[in-house]
Amino acid sequence: MAADTTPPAAPEDGLVGITIDGRTARVAKGTLVTDASAILGIHIPVYCAHPKMDPVAVCRMCLVHVEKMPKLQPACATPVSEGMVVSTERADVAKTREGVLEFLLLNHPLDCPVCDRGGECDLQDFAFRYGPQASRFPITEKVHFNKAVPLSDRIELDQERCILCWRCTRYYDEITGEKELVLQERGVHTLVNTFEGKPLTSAFQGNLPEICPVGALTNRKYRFKARPWDLQRTKGVCPTCSYGCNINIDSRDFEIKRFASRDNPLVDDMWLCDRGRDSGPSWNNVERIRRPVLRDATGSREVSVSEAVAAAARSLREVRERHGPSSIAVLGSAENTNEEIWLLQRLARTALETPHLDHQLEAFPDIGPEEHALGIAEIEQCAAVIVLGDEPEREAPVLTLRLFKAQTKRGVAIRRVVAQATRSLVGELPAEGLIGLIADETNREHATALAGELSRSHQVRRMTVTRGVNGRGAKDLGMLPNSGPGYTAVDQAGKAGRHILEASAAGLITGLVVMGGSVWSASVTPLLERVAAALEVLVVIDTRPGPLSRAATVLIPGHAIFEKGGTVTNMEGRVQRVRPALPPATQTPSETRILSALAAELGAAGWPGDHLLINRELVTAVPAYARAGNGGRALFEAAVRA
Ligand code: SF4
Ligand code: SF4
Ligand code: FES
Repeated sequence: MAADTTPPAAPEDGLVGITIDGRTARVAKGTLVTDASAILGIHIPVYCAHPKMDPVAVCRMCLVHVEKMPKLQPACATPVSEGMVVSTERADVAKTREGVLEFLLLNHPLDCPVCDRGGECDLQDFAFRYGPQASRFPITEKVHFNKAVPLSDRIELDQERCILCWRCTRYYDEITGEKELVLQERGVHTLVNTFEGKPLTSAFQGNLPEICPVGALTNRKYRFKARPWDLQRTKGVCPTCSYGCNINIDSRDFEIKRFASRDNPLVDDMWLCDRGRDSGPSWNNVERIRRPVLRDATGSREVSVSEAVAAAARSLREVRERHGPSSIAVLGSAENTNEEIWLLQRLARTALETPHLDHQLEAFPDIGPEEHALGIAEIEQCAAVIVLGDEPEREAPVLTLRLFKAQTKRGVAIRRVVAQATRSLVGELPAEGLIGLIADETNREHATALAGELSRSHQVRRMTVTRGVNGRGAKDLGMLPNSGPGYTAVDQAGKAGRHILEASAAGLITGLVVMGGSVWSASVTPLLERVAAALEVLVVIDTRPGPLSRAATVLIPGHAIFEKGGTVTNMEGRVQRVRPALPPATQTPSETRILSALAAELGAAGWPGDHLLINRELVTAVPAYARAGNGGRALFEAAVRA
């Protein structure tokens, strides 16, 4: 039976009926033909079109036939209309595609065997799928341009591979607003170059090789490191800050070769900052702690994991018996997963019975969920956003791109405020609509005062840019001296991070457990030397050697974030999974298993050690995490009400 190609009737639902290659659908009015065809599973090749940029229709690769139109139309710039009938398979469409590809390949070098993009190149793929069988032009007559032109210490341009799609220059115009790349000359002589020949300085230039559809722009740090088919890809979360950009961890031979972006429109919107992107390979060569060690006045010796755990428990019990539970403290870090944090705070509160616990050195007074109400994507829905100081964007660089998008594409007024709260600010804000207020951990007090002032006239939603990949999760789950899991009240407030170290140096705390402290320890090395000299027991679980591990009486190797499973929570409360991408550098069991074994030695048997079982326990205890699930936001009651 012949397929019914009549587009469905048009009810008043804001949708329009369209037929592409005989398949029908109803899609939102204004949808581009390329997007509608993707919904129907029909492939239309594109070069200049990019999902995050406005259409310019310069490459003509996407030309399709639209019924009742005299010429082929660019699908990337043609919005659907009611009853539109499109063909992507007609002979004239196929012939035009062949022509476009033949033209693009005219002077294109035969570089595929040595091009970094080979294997993931749209020119290679489309030439194979839609291109002519053979070129009508002799290979010896190709016009050559400059190769390997450095645009900065990160990016290299191969001018003869460029197909002039303009994506890179539009990226600078539309996404970062920095205008560092330009098109020079005209016609066949057109070339991409940096503005006035100056090197690129953007903190987001690492995105260029990903948006370039061919191998014209390549990453100098990744050049010739691997072929796409040699890479093992694992979904992950950038470990460098609390923004939580989604990444693909590409590894080869048990080494991270690159971080590639993984589009999450609610978080990164497909972009990574260079700091995060470049951090990937730095994990390969770091010195690691590999074996458990016991240390006393006579020296140090390697031991088994069970000996180390038993020795840690024995010494902590002795300290508790001699000086009481308040003489013990527990410090974690913003690099611990949620499951590790869950057990670590439980170890402190129930097995060791101490109120002194924290995950960072800086105190976090008056913490509450109301400072975490604003989501990253919600920035675009605000009437105005106030950013206190420049630290939030330095802490979480991709936030800058979201703010720029909100301003340029959604008309959100962005105000950067450095001075203390002023009444004049209120008068400058739009009378209607939501006001976003973004602060970092150092200016929370200012944010609280300003939010109080603004909330008399406006609806205000706050965001605090936390530090470290899981700084937010550590706070949500109560790795704090003044707040329990889910921001519940605690019976007795304990000492915050730096006060714990100072009390240890003064001999008031005599037993200390530290997990992942190498993240913050380098900044307090002199204090740590005094701490180490004064403590009776220092139990350290860590990945990298440092002042803490060198002073530990019991040292147990930990796992880098790419070597374990679990979840981390970004600064807006989005709970995201991390998965093992590399084999562990140590044979020691995971941190969660070590903590559960330590609790058992301390008399608290039956704690789960597997991260999935721990997660089940924590979502039962903290309903906001149950509601968040995998990939959603943990919203606490006060935040939901805000
Ligand atoms: S360098 Fe790449 S992104 Fe830029 S115009 Fe050329 S092909 Fe397009
Ligand atoms: S903004 Fe943060 S999470 Fe995103 S890529 Fe940069 S460092 Fe990584
Ligand atoms: S992708 Fe449509 S014209 Fe370039």
